[in-house]
Amino acid sequence: MSRVYNFSAGPAVLPEEVLKTCAEEMMDYKGSGQSVMEMSHRSKVYDSIIKEAEADFRELVGVPDNYKVLFLQGGASTQFAMIPMNLMKNRVADFIVTGQWAKKAWQEAQKYGTANKIASSEDKTFSYIPDVSDLPISENADYVYICQNNTIYGTKYKELPNTKGKILVSDVSSMFLSEPMDVTKYGIVYGGVQKNVGPAGVTIVVIREDLITDDVLEGTPTMLKYKTHADSDSLYNTPPCYNIYVCGLVFKWLKKMGGLEVMKQKNEEKAKIIYDYLDSSKMFKGTVEPEYRSLMNVPFVTDSDELNAKFIKEAEAAGFVNLKGHRTVGGMRASIYNAMPKEGVEALVNFMKKFEEENS
Ligand SMILES: Cc1ncc(COP(=O)(O)O)c(C=O)c1O
Repeated sequence: MSRVYNFSAGPAVLPEEVLKTCAEEMMDYKGSGQSVMEMSHRSKVYDSIIKEAEADFRELVGVPDNYKVLFLQGGASTQFAMIPMNLMKNRVADFIVTGQWAKKAWQEAQKYGTANKIASSEDKTFSYIPDVSDLPISENADYVYICQNNTIYGTKYKELPNTKGKILVSDVSSMFLSEPMDVTKYGIVYGGVQKNVGPAGVTIVVIREDLITDDVLEGTPTMLKYKTHADSDSLYNTPPCYNIYVCGLVFKWLKKMGGLEVMKQKNEEKAKIIYDYLDSSKMFKGTVEPEYRSLMNVPFVTDSDELNAKFIKEAEAAGFVNLKGHRTVGGMRASIYNAMPKEGVEALVNFMKKFEEENS
């Protein structure tokens, strides 16, 4: 068996230990004589899998009792509609647009009400986070929306915005469980799991209980009401059973690693290795204002498209895969999520150094 170092932005690398457990338990989950893939979601054995996953998630993050944790489908993109449908009582929301995903959420919300763009970093290709300490928050805004880590551009908020008392909604897809988070700061904090948490197909939504009501926009489908899923503990319909099981294994792995504070330290260490090299290299450059650098997604470029292409090709041949930048940005991007070992980042940087020597 030979495994590559996978720098994909998502679906992304998973802990090998978790994959091995999946393999071991594939044919017969703990003496049940079935694969988790084959189980009824109404069975006792599955019920304990989903309950344990939720309990481990709550413990890892420290989710307060007045928040629900929902395992939903439809990707993070479905939340772009579900959030306004459930929260836009006044049909007004404010958006801070720091990248493609925030922009998509802002555009989708325009279908349901007035979506104000109160700040943006589009003027400099989303290479920074605007000052969010004193924004013109709308008086009747139902919520303020952010994307906290911008997967494509590689930026991350240093501070949460001052929402002036309004509910904060945050997409944390590409930084989920990479560091501790204070859930009490948010009305809703959510993410697709396919980057840091598990296989594609699950969106975890952490939502404050008072925001879960029947008072949703007219015409909201049953499946897009938070209350539907909250009332039935994420088992209203058939959930993505297997994927939730894998997320549960990742939660156990994270607990074993020491929890989110330890993950943060590890992620800072890994990110420093690559950013330090980018700062010293004459060939490769980071594309983001250093203050706002993401710990998870590291975009970089050389000054030539040909050299970028050569690098990506040679890196792939050497076992470093999925380093091509997002199609809207070009260049390269190394996503170094929780499951990417430090050795993987060190090996990549050594490869970059060698490439620089050979091509200067
Ligand atoms: C920050 C962020 N939000 C939303 C999405 C969209 O997620 P999905 O493909 O699950 O709809 C992505 C996907 O890469 C993302 O990085």
